[in-house]
Amino acid sequence: MAIDKDPVGDFSDKFGDELQSLPENVARILATLDDPNSSAHDVEEALATDPSMSAKVLALVNSAYFGFSSEVGTLARAVPLLGFKTVRQIALATSLLNLAPSIETENGFSVVENNYHAATSGVLAKLVARHAPRGGDPGEAFTGGLLHDIGKNVLATHLPEGFDKVERRILDDGVDWAVAEQKELHDTHANVGAQLLRRWLFPKNIVEATDFHHRLKDATAPVASAVHLADAICNSKGVTCGLHAGKGKLAYDNAALTTLGLGKEQLDLVLSEVDGELERAAPFLHLLRD
Ligand SMILES: [Fe+2]
Ligand SMILES: [Fe+2]
Repeated sequence: MAIDKDPVGDFSDKFGDELQSLPENVARILATLDDPNSSAHDVEEALATDPSMSAKVLALVNSAYFGFSSEVGTLARAVPLLGFKTVRQIALATSLLNLAPSIETENGFSVVENNYHAATSGVLAKLVARHAPRGGDPGEAFTGGLLHDIGKNVLATHLPEGFDKVERRILDDGVDWAVAEQKELHDTHANVGAQLLRRWLFPKNIVEATDFHHRLKDATAPVASAVHLADAICNSKGVTCGLHAGKGKLAYDNAALTTLGLGKEQLDLVLSEVDGELERAAPFLHLLRD
């Protein structure tokens, strides 16, 4: 097989126009949610510019997950009920992950599956952070999980031939993503995702969680470890990007447990709560598939 010797290099040059900056409506919604002076009405107005996101906020608030007794028909009621944090999570999940077209490759990778894996990783990274003595901010862990593999969507969409070679090397040689990507692209989905998030002005810890989720020794904040462990739990349950969809052994870097201060007993507790947590989060997770 011919090896592509050209490194991806600064992949941001190759990002399509739609990735050069955050879509305007998403940037406006996130900025409104992050502004401490914003009112629920301001958020409602920003959301109203994006009908599909508005519909998802309403669908979620009316799901059994939140258990509100009467139907919530308007954003004006939904935003205060959900809270800015949850609205932010929905905004991120439904907008950024859906920027890539829903492609499926011959070898099994699927943007929809990858996004489901990402959202599940977010839910579980938050669970890990909540239990770990040095787990950091659970909200940050959620966002880190949500975005950690966004580079795969970018590569599959914008560098399909190179991505195909990576997939085939993984399947043929049984090597992991980072090894296959370095061989075929001289770059990784982790770095490409981090470049994108840096360009979109995401906070340092979120960029780092994406950059180092397979390379913990370079991380300075616990969020990379929470995401790493959540990613491993997802893969062991068969919630993957579509390649190697079968269930497998839970395989992780022990450095994650050390960083998080997570002992064996606490890890067992986290693992015992995974299924219940995913059941509770199901309405949110399905937003990405519907
Ligand atoms: Fe990854
Ligand atoms: Fe992952």
